[in-house]
Amino acid sequence: MHWFEKSVFYEVYMKSFCDGNQDGVGDFIGLKERLPYLRKLGVDGLWLTPFYPSMQVDNGYDVSDYKAIDPLYGTIDDFRDFMKEAKQNEMKIIIDIVFNHTAINHKWFKEHPEYYVWKTKPNNWESFFGGSAFTFHAKQNAYYYHSFAKEQVDLNWGNPDVMAEAKQILRFWLEEGVDGFRFDVINNLTVDKAFPDNPFDQKGEMIHQYDRNQRGVKAIIAELSGFCRANKEDVFLVGEISSDNLDEIASYSENHLLDVTFNFNLGSIENLHVKEIFDELVRMEEALSDRMPTLFFGSHDMGRLMSRLALQNRMVAKLLAFLMLTARGIPFIYNGEEVGMRNQIFQSIDEFRDVQGIQAYELARAQGLSEKEALKIGTEKTRDVGRGPLVFADRKPFSKGKPWILGRVETATDATDMFQFYSRLLKFRKDADFQTRPYEKLVLEGETIQFIRGRYLFVANFGETDFLVKEAGVVVFGEAKQNGNDCTIGPLCGVVIDLEA
Ligand code: NOJ
Repeated sequence: MHWFEKSVFYEVYMKSFCDGNQDGVGDFIGLKERLPYLRKLGVDGLWLTPFYPSMQVDNGYDVSDYKAIDPLYGTIDDFRDFMKEAKQNEMKIIIDIVFNHTAINHKWFKEHPEYYVWKTKPNNWESFFGGSAFTFHAKQNAYYYHSFAKEQVDLNWGNPDVMAEAKQILRFWLEEGVDGFRFDVINNLTVDKAFPDNPFDQKGEMIHQYDRNQRGVKAIIAELSGFCRANKEDVFLVGEISSDNLDEIASYSENHLLDVTFNFNLGSIENLHVKEIFDELVRMEEALSDRMPTLFFGSHDMGRLMSRLALQNRMVAKLLAFLMLTARGIPFIYNGEEVGMRNQIFQSIDEFRDVQGIQAYELARAQGLSEKEALKIGTEKTRDVGRGPLVFADRKPFSKGKPWILGRVETATDATDMFQFYSRLLKFRKDADFQTRPYEKLVLEGETIQFIRGRYLFVANFGETDFLVKEAGVVVFGEAKQNGNDCTIGPLCGVVIDLEA
């Protein structure tokens, strides 16, 4: 049993979590200040988004120096103070590692062009943010490859020196005391060396056939994870696999390659359909029966759970939280979910910060669309919606400074009630013995998802009407009317019944 199999993680979007020095950007001083809040919430671990010096074209996912702290977030001493306090609070810390690309102003780009991928002529590959994935570089008289923004240059993992540098970086942070890593788009590290053109689907969207999941990538990951495990006992290794194909995702945690991978098959579901959610849970059991899946409905790359899936319905948001924190897997709460935060609302392109939204807007304008139409397209694409400054239940402003991201933060109504729901559920989860138990039963009955783990029956009623369960036991979490063996569960409620009480 690994410690992380029982844990609940919380994603901290560094820029928006808590601003300690009041300059409008979250930082390590703020994060340290908020550790008691996170303790009170009841999470066991934090995933910190990139805090390294960066061009900030992609909010830190364009790293200029892997072994330092961007002054935006403080100093290495602030980081160390935070780590010390986190340890005292028994909080595990995993950090984001972006090894697919560096920022174009990383010193390697100048000093070691051989660390990157070059081509004399571009093929048809598109960047994941839109537009060509190749940009001409006059000095090299060649095109460099960038699977994301043109300022994010893809590393050449065919060069063993890149691996040697990566190991030094991992060692550096392990020595600083981190408990694990979240590897960014780790299945993208290699590409087909012959660079065949990618095909398109029926909607005209590129199928990324030759620029991810390519030969050699698993051997590279095995070397990276082997290195981490040899240097730290029980290190937690999470892979972000750029895919929503479950078999593909699952293949990256096979044979202990990584400990877990993010399950976008469930996590990025667009609409709330109980059958679809249930089917994904079943598929996850089939694909990952011998490993832990991950569970989340939000992240900095998608619309907020409350707006996207729950459509502002607090009961639905609570029910999804109930599922996320009781189903089999390692949950990752996205910061703000615990107070019911909603999507940020934007009125003009000047308020956008996300390169993906800005690029979509600019492309639409270049194609002759009106300002209004382009803004609509940009708004659909921008990930800024989920990146607004945190609104805490127990503390008013995120910052007195002008926030780094504009737009309107929808004040979460009843934040305290939502926070209490999360903390009660997390406390129940911690005290009860089911976190690592398999499903003894996993069924869809009417509009309820039901499962038994250990001595508990969990019922999540996604229906609009009461649901009757006939089971001898005592309700130990959630509200239900009990009459002998009859238990009536209200609409959009999650209930736990202790079958052995
Ligand atoms: C995945 C990250 O979650 C996302 O925010 C980023 O833009 C891309 N990787 C590129 O690093």
